[in-house]
Amino acid sequence: MENFVFHNPVKVLFGKGQIANLAPEIPADAKVLITYGGGSIKANGVYDQVKAALAGHHVLEFGGIEPNPHLETLMQAVELIRKEGINFILAVGGGSVIDGTKFIAAAVPFEGDPWDILAKGAPVTAAVPFGVVLTLPATGSEMNIAAVITKWSTQEKLAFLSPLVFPKFSVLDPETTFSLPPRQVSNGIVDAFTHVMEQYLTYPVNAPLQDRMAESILKTLIVEGPKTLANPTDYESRANLVWSATMALNGLIAVGVPQDWTTHMIGHELTALHGLDHAQTLAIVLPGTLTIRRDRKWQKLLQYADRVWGLVDGSEEERVDAAIQKTRDFFESVGVRTHLSDYGVSLETVPAVIKNLEKHGMTALGEHQDINPEVVEQILALCA
Ligand code: NZQ
Ligand code: ZN
Repeated sequence: MENFVFHNPVKVLFGKGQIANLAPEIPADAKVLITYGGGSIKANGVYDQVKAALAGHHVLEFGGIEPNPHLETLMQAVELIRKEGINFILAVGGGSVIDGTKFIAAAVPFEGDPWDILAKGAPVTAAVPFGVVLTLPATGSEMNIAAVITKWSTQEKLAFLSPLVFPKFSVLDPETTFSLPPRQVSNGIVDAFTHVMEQYLTYPVNAPLQDRMAESILKTLIVEGPKTLANPTDYESRANLVWSATMALNGLIAVGVPQDWTTHMIGHELTALHGLDHAQTLAIVLPGTLTIRRDRKWQKLLQYADRVWGLVDGSEEERVDAAIQKTRDFFESVGVRTHLSDYGVSLETVPAVIKNLEKHGMTALGEHQDINPEVVEQILALCA
């Protein structure tokens, strides 16, 4: 096992009715900005619950944060916060609203052009404190330090990481997710599954606890995901899906082990270029990454085949093939198509993806930093 430092200070309020308990988590004299997306929270009652919980607070609102949140939109909130002297933000929504809020929080005190935080890795030295009410289990953003932001004018989608953008608290009430359309539930299952895979499916470093935890999350998603899709108001399966998605990317299964993230980096470029949902890009790319890197991931692929899919018969070659096929079949079975052509995208996009990865310095991806543009081309060739 590799050395590690683990620190995750996010306070989680999990379960039915927990929105009503969020007020004590925010200083009583805070001037609060509620950030949200395109309006789902007004249709499903979450907005009303939040407003009721914050009845004693001074509250302003900023709506309209779009999926794959745009820098251009977020900068409007930055201006509002600076003008109004807001000193606490409450993000109410999915990964896009949470990520957008992380950026806003870091941009408010930033001197210079805040896009430099993403484009140039400019350090975040301060951030406005914020909390989260999660409405979409998928990204793990509610309990991590990452945010992914899109600059619409240049079609760039980039990530930044900073411990200063850990939420102060996150409310996870599974009932807030009952209103999700099936496409977003499916996306969440695939995103969380792929998060685990990018931290697990590398090479063994004798970290059996991290391995077993990762496999548990994968198996839970395989069981609870389809149950939730079949019965959207089943609280128990939904609660397990929500917690699995949070655990998939809150840092715990990543400690002491190598990580890959190739599939995510290629996927971000596909979203930036073609507007595909984040999870759609992952469903397309992950089977290709596993196939092209099968030799370097061999031991873990065999372990995954056995422990996650119960594949114990046949040659090693056959089990590895079957495990990759099972992964693709699972994504398809929960309703996320796994080929570029399913989304009207052809391999003509490959040079643009490569060019953007190069522009963003993503030329040595993977757990061995040996996934260069030629390897990315091989991976994408399998995604047609
Ligand atoms: O905008 P509203 O009206 O709220 O509608 C949203 C949006 O249209 C809707 N929705 C959310 N909760 C709902 C709901 N509709 C009905 N009922 C509810 N309870 O769902 C749509 C998609 O929302 P979005 O927030 O975009 O989805 P998701 O949570 O999948 O977030 C995707 C974003 O997160 C980034 C992705 O790149 C993408 O930009 N990621 C962030 C990560 C992180 N911070 O660690 C890691 C991930 O790998 C990922 O890259
Ligand atoms: Zn993801």
